[in-house]
Amino acid sequence: MEGGTPHVLFVCGSLRARSLNRQAGERARELLAGRAETRWLDYADVPYMNQDAEFPAPDAVRRVRDEVMAADAVWVFSPEYNHGIPGVLKNLIDWLSRPLEPGGAETALRGRPVAVTCAAGGSRGRYCAADLAEVLATARAELVDTARALVALDRRAYTTDELALTPAEQAALAAQADVLMTRLGSA
Ligand SMILES: Cc1cc2nc3c(=O)[nH]c(=O)nc-3n(C[C@H](O)[C@H](O)[C@H](O)COP(=O)(O)O)c2cc1C
Repeated sequence: MEGGTPHVLFVCGSLRARSLNRQAGERARELLAGRAETRWLDYADVPYMNQDAEFPAPDAVRRVRDEVMAADAVWVFSPEYNHGIPGVLKNLIDWLSRPLEPGGAETALRGRPVAVTCAAGGSRGRYCAADLAEVLATARAELVDTARALVALDRRAYTTDELALTPAEQAALAAQADVLMTRLGSA
């Protein structure tokens, strides 16, 4: 934590440019402005998990691990694909869950605070959020928020690709940002 300012790494479960989850993440970055340094993780080049290629890890994997380990916390924004975690995000988490060295205990995710927000359709992303909680707990990450902010995307959002948060959703996101900052000792 340089100069007392925590670093929060944002991860989007959608790779598309107009991602509504990325837009929700941008709102969160605004909420953290002045309280944390934030940046997005670019992980589109991470290859599929293949245990034959784990040691030494591919360059892209080493880079994303370094970025995660340099962060004080990670905040995931993700859509829900077929009531689950999008494959690209699950693949990233699988790499981050694995030991840095053969037989070692240290991983990029172990003990790292992680917050989760999902923006999706009718389910409001609750299946994906529950999946992420299970997967991240299995990877020994520290899930920060127990009341995860879930955003409902409607037909207007789907047709315009413009995110609009209800006052309740905006408040939930702000509360989640506050919980994360409190966890990082920086209110
Ligand atoms: C493969 C696929 C599966 C999807 N499955 C679900 C789903 O199970 N529940 C849901 O609410 N929305 C589902 N959607 C719709 C997404 O919520 C919607 O496309 C959303 O905008 C994607 O997030 P993004 O805008 O951040 O890319 C699915 C979309 C895709 C591409």
